Amino acid sequence: PAPVIVAIDGPSGTGKSSTSRAVAAKLGLSYLDTGAQYRAITWWMLTHDVDVRDAEAVAAAADRPEILSGTDPAEPTITVDGTDASGPIRTQEVTGAVSAVSAVPAVRTRITELQRAIAAGAPTGIVVEGRDIGTTVLPDADLKIFLTASPEARAARRGGELKGSGGRPVDLDATREALLRRDAADAGRKTSPLRKADDAVEVDTTELTLEQVIECVVTLIEEKQ
Ligand code: C5P
Repeated sequence: PAPVIVAIDGPSGTGKSSTSRAVAAKLGLSYLDTGAQYRAITWWMLTHDVDVRDAEAVAAAADRPEILSGTDPAEPTITVDGTDASGPIRTQEVTGAVSAVSAVPAVRTRITELQRAIAAGAPTGIVVEGRDIGTTVLPDADLKIFLTASPEARAARRGGELKGSGGRPVDLDATREALLRRDAADAGRKTSPLRKADDAVEVDTTELTLEQVIECVVTLIEEKQ
């Protein structure tokens, strides 16, 4: 069969990563976390003394880091100039700066090119998760999903993840505020804002378990094949 291209977009805390990885693993597809790429370029800027609030400085440096994504859903990897960046890209410092960096058009052009090349090279197909995959990166995807959830559900899931990774107990109100601020920045930017594509299937995950969301997406993909 022809490779199948699946775009999964939506705001933070809707279960995009867990869903995308599980679906890709189940169907034998590659997996690409595009948020990790924006986090990686942001981490590079922060560690190379680029002022992330200075859009011109960010644009001038956009082509400098070499960013490589491993697309095995069982073990996705990201390296920057040959260094494993999977840990550092999840820090609060990167999370706080990533929306500003990813709003810079030169950054989006660079990362979008990487994403299209990876998708084109996936032998059986790929699940690509992000914010603008269905609208901009892969407008001809075979299936586009837009995941949503209530702000409370999203903050609770993020809070659970943060605790799970061994940090201090998290303040749910602060998590919720930070998450809503990042989504507002992502949805409000000029270039490729977070938006549901007209032909995307919207799935509200507020009342669904992860297993139910995975099942729903797998069914939608099988219907297309
Ligand atoms: O998904 P994740 O939370 O890791 O994404 C981090 C940030 O990367 C988002 O808040 C957004 O600013 C940016 N991003 C983007 N376009 C994508 C994926 C992520 O602008 N396709």
